[in-house]
Amino acid sequence: SEQTFIAIKPDGVQRGLVGDIISRFEKRGYKLVAIKMVTPGKAHLEKHYEDLKDKPFFPGLVSYMNSGPIAAMVWEGREVVKVGRLILGATNPLASAPGTIRFDYAIDVGRNVCHGSDAVDSAKKEIKLWFKDDEITNWTSAQQSWVYEK
Ligand code: GTP
Ligand code: MG
Repeated sequence: SEQTFIAIKPDGVQRGLVGDIISRFEKRGYKLVAIKMVTPGKAHLEKHYEDLKDKPFFPGLVSYMNSGPIAAMVWEGREVVKVGRLILGATNPLASAPGTIRFDYAIDVGRNVCHGSDAVDSAKKEIKLWFKDDEITNWTSAQQSWVYEK
């Protein structure tokens, strides 16, 4: 089944949004297979965002992400990479749709509360970067047959 890396950034943690964000994924029917609080340091964050290293906002992005603990998660379910991004909303909260996390809780693109992998390939890379194999649980949700017909 498809998996994605979702992270609640330091502003989301500090603002007490961890529970609400988890709840939105849970209530949709997705399955939480890994979760931890982590302050991974600059080198790790530079690797996570390596595709953006030439952007003018890169140093600010890394120091923002390094400013406190991050709630790092792996969520599993049908099309969870694409739908995860829809649940988060557009990168710039001012351009995001009402009902998304970034619309409901953020204003500034540099304080946009959450991260989600942008493709199945990058999800695999990010999950490997943030989690060891034995930190990811394989469990069957009692909700499975109520969420999926097959
Ligand atoms: P992530 O889920 O965090 O990866 O966001 P994204 O995939 O929607 O956007 P992208 O990967 O392009 O950018 C990563 C992060 O860099 C964004 O979530 C923002 O926090 C930040 N960022 C992107 N564009 C800008 C910008 O123009 N200015 C500033 N200050 N930050 C930006
Ligand atoms: Mg991105």
